[in-house]
Amino acid sequence: MLPENLTQALNNQFNNELQAAHAYKAMAAYFSERGYHGFANFFLVQSQEEHEHAMKFYDFLVTMSEKPEMHALNEPKNTFVSAMEVMESALGQERNVTKRIYELVSLADETHEHATLSFLDWFIEEQMEEEKTFRDIIARLKGITEGGEYFLKMDDEFATRKLD
Ligand SMILES: [Fe+2]
Ligand SMILES: [Fe+2]
Repeated sequence: MLPENLTQALNNQFNNELQAAHAYKAMAAYFSERGYHGFANFFLVQSQEEHEHAMKFYDFLVTMSEKPEMHALNEPKNTFVSAMEVMESALGQERNVTKRIYELVSLADETHEHATLSFLDWFIEEQMEEEKTFRDIIARLKGITEGGEYFLKMDDEFATRKLD
C-alpha cells in the first residue's frame, strides 16, 4: 500500500504517459501526411515507448497493491506548420514530463516511500535522454530545408528506428 496522495500522483503520471503516447501519434501524422515515413516511424516508435512507460507505472501500482485508474485522454495538438514546430512541441512535452517526474520524486521523498523513489530513478535517467534526443534533432534541423536532401537523409535514418 502507498499513501493515498502518492497513489493518486502515480496514477496521474500513468495517464500522462498514455497522453504522451497519444500526442506522439498526432506528431507522426504530420509526417505521414507528407510522405516522410521515416520521421513518422520515429514518432510511432516514440509513442510505443511512452506506452511502455505507462505500463511501468501500471505494474508498479499493482506491485504496491494499488489500483491503476484510467482517466480520459485530451485531444492532442493535431496541426503543425513545420517539422521544427513538431520537434519543439515534443521537447516542450518532454520538459513538462521531467517536471512532473521531479514533483513525484519530491512527494515520494516527503512520504519516505523509498520503493517509489527507487522506481522513479529510471525515469529521471530516461527524461535526460528524452530531452537530449529532441534537442539534438532540433539542432540538426536548424538551417536545413524541409524536404531537402539532408532532411531526406534524416528521414532514411529515422526509418530504421525500432523499439529497444
Ligand atoms: Fe515517458
Ligand atoms: Fe518521453
